[in-house]
Amino acid sequence: SVHQVTVSAPVNIAVVKYWGKRDTALLLPTNSSLSLTLSQDDLRSTTTVRIDPKFEADRLWLNGKEEDVTSNKRMVNVVRELRALRKSLQDADSALPVIDSWRMHVCSENNFPTAAGLASSASGFAALTFGIAQALDIAERIPRAQLSRLARLGSGSACRSLFGGFVAWNMGSAADGNDSVAEQVADESHWADMEALILVASDARKDTPSTAGMQLTVETSALLQSRIKDVVPKRMEEMRAAIAAKDYDAFAELTMKDSNQFHAVCLDTFPPISYMNDVSRAVVHLITSYNALFTQPGAAGGPKKGYRAAYTFDAGPNAVLYVRREHVAEVLAIVNAVFPVPTTDREAYLGRAAQYVG
Ligand code: DP6
Repeated sequence: SVHQVTVSAPVNIAVVKYWGKRDTALLLPTNSSLSLTLSQDDLRSTTTVRIDPKFEADRLWLNGKEEDVTSNKRMVNVVRELRALRKSLQDADSALPVIDSWRMHVCSENNFPTAAGLASSASGFAALTFGIAQALDIAERIPRAQLSRLARLGSGSACRSLFGGFVAWNMGSAADGNDSVAEQVADESHWADMEALILVASDARKDTPSTAGMQLTVETSALLQSRIKDVVPKRMEEMRAAIAAKDYDAFAELTMKDSNQFHAVCLDTFPPISYMNDVSRAVVHLITSYNALFTQPGAAGGPKKGYRAAYTFDAGPNAVLYVRREHVAEVLAIVNAVFPVPTTDREAYLGRAAQYVG
């Protein structure tokens, strides 16, 4: 018999950013991070996996194009670990058929442009890990946190897409990465009126891939060391508290500050890396002016009160805005008034949440 499954995994967008590895082979981060997993209806990767005793070799197709599996080290690591897990389960339970040696064909597709800083590697490796785990019939036999650990070997941010809702990736301290796994902080129903709006400034491939960019930052930025030590540990706690209390003001301020600091450490990298462009900066300016119409001073040391929108930018020029549903129409109206209206077909392939601003 053959095993074939198709699974999808959504994109996640961090509000406390992962940037820097302490181990580049195991993809262990220099700081913890926290993200929101978007809904499956929006940006997602879909992977079909078939394992078959008649297959002669593992084969991989990405967005319709065959790739050389053996040259993709991260992919090889994820598949090897999943097969080893299957083998240990088989060894412990003679009722489980021996299928860990069967070859697999894997087909993966994104419904959005790859590598435009829209977290394609996160949803891609999450879907790949989950799909292979299902085909090997191990997905329901091991804890989800362990699957997230395997997805992490494909791409760090992928570990967070194994859960829905609000997800922390705890950096861990073990040398083998066993405790560097994702954890759900709150499920998708907890803060149900939170929406993500994606403002596409450019869908071109980004200049500096995050993997290379973050290691250059680790090697050259003194500011990163201060971020790791003095900023992120406290910010993770504050962000968890903001989410638990559904405190939008705290959430918005922390999200924007963390995005700003991530792009600041990119500029502090030598030679510098800049992911934001003029359109991105115009979005920051617009959201800052919009919020300023409503915000009042907060308590001493606390966030201002009255935020309506929070921006965040990953390793590319596109903005993601976290906005409560009651303000979505207003925010979109303002964005559309300031930036040229998108053409309908460009909108269509990114889902309803996406607006072209570039
Ligand atoms: C800016 O997870 O793509 O999106 O682990 O090398 O595959 P690798 O990097 P990747 O980096 C994501 C960086 C980020 C911030 C984040 O998602 O936390």
